Amino acid sequence: MGTIELRGIGRSFKSTAAVRDITLTVDDGDFLVLLGPSGCGKTTLLRMIAGLLEPTTGRILLDGEDITELPSKKRDLAMVFQSYALYPHLSVRKNLAFPLRVQKLAKDEIERRVQDVAASLEIDQYLDRKPKELSGGQRQRVAVGRALVRNPKAFLMDEPLSNLDAKLRTQTRQELTALHRRLGATFVYVTHDQVEAMTMATRIVVLNAGRIEQYGTPEELYDRPESVFVAGFLGSPAMNLLDAQVAGDGGRIVVSAEGLGGDLWDGDTVPLDVVLGLRPEHLQIVDATTAHEGVRVAVTVDIVENLGGEQILTCSTGAGRLQVRTSRDVRVSDGDRLTLHVSPEHVHLFDRSTGRRLEWVPDAARTADGIRADDRVLVP
Ligand SMILES: Nc1ncnc2c1ncn2[C@@H]1O[C@H](COP(=O)(O)OP(=O)(O)O)[C@@H](O)[C@H]1O
Ligand SMILES: [Mg+2]
Repeated sequence: MGTIELRGIGRSFKSTAAVRDITLTVDDGDFLVLLGPSGCGKTTLLRMIAGLLEPTTGRILLDGEDITELPSKKRDLAMVFQSYALYPHLSVRKNLAFPLRVQKLAKDEIERRVQDVAASLEIDQYLDRKPKELSGGQRQRVAVGRALVRNPKAFLMDEPLSNLDAKLRTQTRQELTALHRRLGATFVYVTHDQVEAMTMATRIVVLNAGRIEQYGTPEELYDRPESVFVAGFLGSPAMNLLDAQVAGDGGRIVVSAEGLGGDLWDGDTVPLDVVLGLRPEHLQIVDATTAHEGVRVAVTVDIVENLGGEQILTCSTGAGRLQVRTSRDVRVSDGDRLTLHVSPEHVHLFDRSTGRRLEWVPDAARTADGIRADDRVLVP
């Protein structure tokens, strides 16, 4: 079991609030990724869970037991650092055995667990080497192994792949995913890399300036970002974000900006300044004269980048810059003028003043004057 509950956790350093009022449950067996830009409070939050840093406010529970005051050593949690933090003068065997010696386990029990873990991570042939005689990837495995031998309730990892080169990072990412599946243990994993988050997580928390911006599965965050911040953070290339206006027009909700227009849904709304979000893979090249429901954008192609299997077009429109992902079969050149189309179900709208997602709210959910108190609705 390894359920971690955070209740109103906060941490300030002098006048800076690094983490603010985080309430969150990490379910047993989850691979929870804490994702966000540098400085958003990921490490601070993880160190508080690990017991390496005291929270200013809030409580931390592990399997229902309040561990807020419990010293790090007594928490049944294992931490893997970016720097690996191996003992340079000790062999791999002794590095792996170290946490078990601290626990004063019997010698043969220690040897057995070290062997098991070394075999499962395929580092058994390096047991007598020192860390400096290993590659980056091998050191990283020893660091994971040292967490594994303790058989903890949860694994806490702070950017453990960031010192590896691109190829090794992909491979190790897959190994960690497989390890998580095999162990069925709880992982809390810190990264600023959205690809790691999308590929490894069962749940993602996006942090922004110490606060939870959104919590959900990778699919939920990708398909339905709650804010411009999340929309721009997930996906590569990221979602295109363009300033536009929405308004009601003859029973339809329409969107417009320079070089761009669209007929989205049945309904009505007060005119609103919005940020229009369009994913690069949802933009399709269409014939300028054919009518479609959805958004149409007139663009000029500035750059065509060939990625082998596909290509990325960087285009300009009156409303700003736009990136499009297309198959290589689509023949386009720099300077081409194109009409792009996105169907209504792939259109994201955000309130420009708050950055929050605008929702379609059916009749039943409206107040008498047609606009909900939080003003995030488009009024049918
Ligand atoms: N020991 C510390 N003393 C003062 N400020 C700190 C300390 N640790 C972190 N901070 C500040 O708290 C904020 C969050 O830092 P951190 O948790 O390391 O972010 P992340 O891991 O997301 O990059 C940053 O503004 C950072 O400068
Ligand atoms: Mg950090």
